[in-house]
Amino acid sequence: MCGIIGYIGSEKASPILLKGLFNLEYRGYDSAGMATLNNEIIVCKKGAGKIHDINHKLNFLSLEGTIGIAHNRWATHGGVNDINAHPHFDCSKAIAIVHNGIIENHRELKEALSEHKFESETDSEILAHLIEEELKKGFSFEDAFVNAILKLDGNYAVLAIKAGEEKILAARKGSPLVVGVTDHGIFLSSDIPSFLEWTKKVVYLHDYDIVIAERGGIRIYNLIEGQVSRPIDTVEWDAEQIKKGGFDHYMLKEILDQTETIYRAIQQDIDVVNKIIDEIRKAYGIFFVGCGSSYHACLAGSYLFSKIAETHINVVLASEFENYEHFLRENTLVFAVSQSGETADVLEAVRAAKRSGSKVIGIVNRMGSSLTRESDEFLLMNAGPEICVLSTKTYTSQVALMILLAYALIGRYEEGIQKLKGLYMDIYNLTSRSMREHLKKLAEMLVHKEHIYLIGRGLQFTTALEAALKIKEVSYIHAEAFAGGELKHGPLALIEDGTPVIVFVGEDDEKKILSNANEVKARGGYIIGVSAERHDIFDYWIKVPEGGDLNPIVQIIPMQILAYKLAVLKGLDPDKPRNLAKSVTVI
Ligand code: AGP
Repeated sequence: MCGIIGYIGSEKASPILLKGLFNLEYRGYDSAGMATLNNEIIVCKKGAGKIHDINHKLNFLSLEGTIGIAHNRWATHGGVNDINAHPHFDCSKAIAIVHNGIIENHRELKEALSEHKFESETDSEILAHLIEEELKKGFSFEDAFVNAILKLDGNYAVLAIKAGEEKILAARKGSPLVVGVTDHGIFLSSDIPSFLEWTKKVVYLHDYDIVIAERGGIRIYNLIEGQVSRPIDTVEWDAEQIKKGGFDHYMLKEILDQTETIYRAIQQDIDVVNKIIDEIRKAYGIFFVGCGSSYHACLAGSYLFSKIAETHINVVLASEFENYEHFLRENTLVFAVSQSGETADVLEAVRAAKRSGSKVIGIVNRMGSSLTRESDEFLLMNAGPEICVLSTKTYTSQVALMILLAYALIGRYEEGIQKLKGLYMDIYNLTSRSMREHLKKLAEMLVHKEHIYLIGRGLQFTTALEAALKIKEVSYIHAEAFAGGELKHGPLALIEDGTPVIVFVGEDDEKKILSNANEVKARGGYIIGVSAERHDIFDYWIKVPEGGDLNPIVQIIPMQILAYKLAVLKGLDPDKPRNLAKSVTVI
């Protein structure tokens, strides 16, 4: 997820664009850049790092001109460095573009333009060269832009400017883009907070819209519908609320983002996936290592690799990894899973693995993090910045990658892709208003409980663990998960009349886990079922689709919402739980 913003009007563009970048920083903060059109030529400043630091070094405000585009980056393709920062240019530096999204066919398109000189490792740069190629065929800037857009697979929100052309061209498909209207100029941006201090008048764009923004206003053309006009709305929310998608907290916004982030997680470079699969096949001993939610994703991964690929995985808490260091050999393979890529315990484990000559594969959300630098290979989760301290969308992105790797290992990568792509409507329904209301009712029943227990078997046990972590870290209610079969080995002593127990049911363990639920019911427990089918033993039922191998994704989402509702009912801030940090960079 990146932030893009453009301005064309009567004011100097750079101060407006710089403020816009700061207001979009929550969309990405690896690097930033700006290009303006001044006396018929394009001038540009860009670099890696936080916007404030880059501006201090490069002084964006020195850019003159009343037309400009700017970008802050959350890296998905290509490292975090000055060259990969946007804007990107064509060979003649006459065209500048900024892009948010993932161009799935950028490699094929690049091969077809072999005579072009590419500077960056990004997928986005291809856009400027495609436009250049179309201009060479004699097309106008507008037609060249449309022809270039039509060649793209994937999702995009794009802004383009050309030397000598007093306009900004824009297009969107699958990534957000909105127009801001003022009496002095036009804004084009990923999100409203970027220009809200200048105007509340917005034009919401649709997928396949092409926008020609000139000093006199905008023209909109839809690649499917033809010439269209879109109404000017007035925004009610304030900037902070809009950054949260209109929700009160980032946590809820990020839970609902999961319809999109699962799709983005599976946008992987097949050559990298194949290289990782080769390493798995060559390995003698494989470890999955992580902390907190990332550890739970590792645990789910171990069940998935066992179930789908009949492959044994050793799962170890990163903070405990030193106890296994003597097992490490040159042909041991260590997967280090970390959203931030900066968790000290994980980095310690990675360094121990490297000391032993083992190969390290990172599964990480932040490009340019220590983990991406210290891994031999890595897969990016592409989940975009996760502002809430709790891991929600990044947890399910990690699980999605585990599922994808397990299917790739047995030669059914495309099947894994299709299964995960098929989750869209399930996640949409699981995060719907009616489901949120249903979970709020449950939260109202649980909010004053001292203890909440959770049980599951197999993949459902890993979900029980992750759900317990969500509940305890955001609502401060003691929540504890057990493997269903473990109840009679002690935890059953905890069950009293009315003790709430959340039971996760999968198609492959239904009989056994319901039998465990009976053990609880017989001692007065209150049974909350998470399952595809209702069962008589349930006192409260949360209906979820039967996801089979995908249950760790579909069953955790209602629990994320339940945890969120508990925190809100207790008057707590779900985004910033007490005592916790988003990235634990100390041992
Ligand atoms: C989970 O909600 C917590 N935020 C925490 O357990 C987190 O998963 C853990 O600290 C690991 O963080 P990482 O993924 O950035 O390494």
